[in-house]
Amino acid sequence: MTKSVGMRRNLAGYGDAGFSVFLRKAFIKALGYTDDALDRPIIGIVDTDSGYNACHRNLPDLIEAASRGVMLAGGIPIPFPVISIQESFAHPTSMYLRNLMAMDVEEMIRAQPMDAVILLGGCDKTVPALIMGAASAGVPAILLVSGPMLAGSWRGERLGACTDCRRFWGRYRAGELTEQQIAEVNSELAPTVGFCGVMGTASTMALATEALGMMLPGGACVPAVHGERRRLAELTGTRAVAMAAERLTPDQILTPAAFTNALRTVLAAGGSTNALIHLAAMAGRLGIGIDLDGIDRIARETPVLIDLKPTGQGYMEDLYHAGGLVPMLREIAPLLDLSCLTVTGRTLGENLDAAPPPFPQSVIRPFADPIFSGGAMAVLRGNLAPHGAIIKQAAATPSLLQHTGRAVVFKSLADLAARIDDPALDVTPDDVLVMQNAGPKGAPGMPEAGYIPIPKKLLQQGVKDMVRISDARMSGTAFGTIVLHVSPESAIGGPLGLVRDGDTIRLDTAGRTLSLEVDDATLAARAAEQPPAPTGEGRRGYAKLYLDTVTQAERGCDFDFAIPPITRTIP
Ligand code: FES
Ligand code: MG
Repeated sequence: MTKSVGMRRNLAGYGDAGFSVFLRKAFIKALGYTDDALDRPIIGIVDTDSGYNACHRNLPDLIEAASRGVMLAGGIPIPFPVISIQESFAHPTSMYLRNLMAMDVEEMIRAQPMDAVILLGGCDKTVPALIMGAASAGVPAILLVSGPMLAGSWRGERLGACTDCRRFWGRYRAGELTEQQIAEVNSELAPTVGFCGVMGTASTMALATEALGMMLPGGACVPAVHGERRRLAELTGTRAVAMAAERLTPDQILTPAAFTNALRTVLAAGGSTNALIHLAAMAGRLGIGIDLDGIDRIARETPVLIDLKPTGQGYMEDLYHAGGLVPMLREIAPLLDLSCLTVTGRTLGENLDAAPPPFPQSVIRPFADPIFSGGAMAVLRGNLAPHGAIIKQAAATPSLLQHTGRAVVFKSLADLAARIDDPALDVTPDDVLVMQNAGPKGAPGMPEAGYIPIPKKLLQQGVKDMVRISDARMSGTAFGTIVLHVSPESAIGGPLGLVRDGDTIRLDTAGRTLSLEVDDATLAARAAEQPPAPTGEGRRGYAKLYLDTVTQAERGCDFDFAIPPITRTIP
């Protein structure tokens, strides 16, 4: 039996190491453990369940199953709470809180004795926060997600949060659905516990972390309510005990090559743009830089293969029935570094070899017959985005990807809300909608507001899409010709803040440029009139910490003090 090193870690606080163990044992005996129980590897289990979090509401079951797996392997499981973040109940934004959760995870793993840790999460920001924290803490760690919810059904049509939330709400606003009908739809959009079942941020991050090697193979797609999800939890517990003995720490798994594999997976899945920010933040914790030009290069080589909403048709349960992530990884295997180590103790290539054999299915397309071949996302630069911007071209209108138009500028989210549907708004379908002050510091919290609504009077003319530009993010469940993550953001002096109504903006997606056709002298004069960047001055608590230290999108919006020196980049 492996002796626990956990009980003996970090004992300097009491000076006398023997007394420290004696004291800890007294309290642990109060919990009802015998000496025999304690003389084993201790496996911490990060519990992110909360009464506010439907995406995690199966965690009590998963903790029970993971604990059983730990005990079957001779370890002792100790669940402990950290904060929980659910997208719909996180004010001002879940992004604002992600780093708080990462700090909570890191410090509680550090503070408490454990030889390995099981990370439980699922909803959008929780998976990156768990990996960021665990990567910084450096204790052997394995991730288990809650699993996707099942799709709902309304009058013969399949539904899922939240791509269909937008679609049906639009139909209700247009008078196509009655109060009774929209209420029926509302009951079916999230019919079970688990994370959103479209290819939104949660599904994207589940696939990305499986490809990273932080989760057991097949772990991303199993629905939250399936027995297989509980069996995975048991196996995760068993594996965590072995990882403790092997001292298999996150830095051995989270290498530059593994992040490249994860980026390819996100792109091949047609995943959420949010994943680029989260992967940059996760990599940053290990001193690994993810440069935007590298992402663009990877995107150009990687076709979109998974047919899930919003870029395709299906839901995560369909991907599960098609074999999960493994068949897609096999399709893009020539582009992957198969030598990357994973939580199984084997390489990604060995995991793929050991997975069940392929069978005919229609959710994951062959490499030679993709859903979209031009790269799911493209990175733009130019005088409007000196540090980069992102466009999800797979979800855009092809004819708008090359477009020059007149800017219609909204100063903030509040300004947008006040004027977008104003019948007097001077706007045509060829204009470019610009929103300022919605970035990491400006909003604050970089809300998913980049999906600027089409002005009502244009909607009524049948206009479905326009070029829209902001320093905000966009929900992974949305679509349109939308430029996001413009950096530097407008609130800290980025050129996006210098755009005025009537300026000419040129989007050249093929040439990867985003230009503001205004001369430098005019821009300099406008810059001199800009208000100062928001800081923590005059504020207190977390808001102060956030505003003083949050970084821009290309650095993952992590806190500057949480990122060690960047010494490596993705291959
Ligand atoms: Fe939690 Fe969608 S709200 S994953
Ligand atoms: Mg989301």
